[in-house]
Amino acid sequence: MRIDIVTLFPGMVEPVLGASMLGRARARGLVDIRVLDLRDYAKGKHRIADDYQFGGGGGMVLKPEPLFAAVEALRTPGARVILLDPRGRTFTQKVAAELARETHLILLAGRYEGVDARVSERLVDDSISIGDYVLTGGELPALVVTDAVARLLPGVLGAEGATERESFASGLLEPPQYTRPEEFQGARVPAVLLSGDHARIARWRRVQALWLTWRTRPELLKSTGLTSDEQRLVERFERGETPEQIDASAH
Ligand SMILES: C[S@@+](CC[C@H](N)C(=O)[O-])C[C@H]1O[C@@H](n2cnc3c(N)ncnc32)[C@H](O)[C@@H]1O
Repeated sequence: MRIDIVTLFPGMVEPVLGASMLGRARARGLVDIRVLDLRDYAKGKHRIADDYQFGGGGGMVLKPEPLFAAVEALRTPGARVILLDPRGRTFTQKVAAELARETHLILLAGRYEGVDARVSERLVDDSISIGDYVLTGGELPALVVTDAVARLLPGVLGAEGATERESFASGLLEPPQYTRPEEFQGARVPAVLLSGDHARIARWRRVQALWLTWRTRPELLKSTGLTSDEQRLVERFERGETPEQIDASAH
């Protein structure tokens, strides 16, 4: 997959892309990520990419011409052009999985007061928001999208299937994880995880994932197809039982 990030501030984006998983994935050719300076597509001696907005109100807005020129230069057949925009549809794991099936993403990072509306009206296929808050620019959102999408590409994470149990993949949050030491400041790792009993561990993880989701993000359960067993567990939580009591009653 190829991902192009078009920005007025390439220096904000490049260092992140060179580090850790993304850096390794790029070096191994698993994903081709390019950072393009919007100013390179702006005309005139000063390569100005922003201007005052009509109607007053103060603040600068990105001009349409450089963004249209950038997309024209970068577009490949099948490319999906995305504007990062707080007014766009909300980015979720489901959207990340959808984008990971594309061959080429062109991500346009806005700045200042935003972007000339003709860009969202006539140039882009999609506008994406990373959440209900306003950042100073689209660079961090573009990195968020790039990271979440790239780690879903085959080979990027190394261990195959590592994303399956993760939060949101199954509609639930991921259950708690522990590593050594077995005891830390008096807190012990749950005995079941040390038991070697894979069926019991799998059940413990499922109960914990369900419990965590029910307690902190109950709205996720509405869009998750729960099995009748999981539905019964939720009813037990609602009656006040804890995962520990449920686990104890099973043995
Ligand atoms: C300061 S913001 C503009 C906000 C705009 N005036 C508004 O109220 O919707 C500048 C740029 O940052 C990016 N941005 C800010 N917050 C974002 C978010 N939550 N999701 C995606 N992009 C965001 C967009 O590219 C936006 O054009």
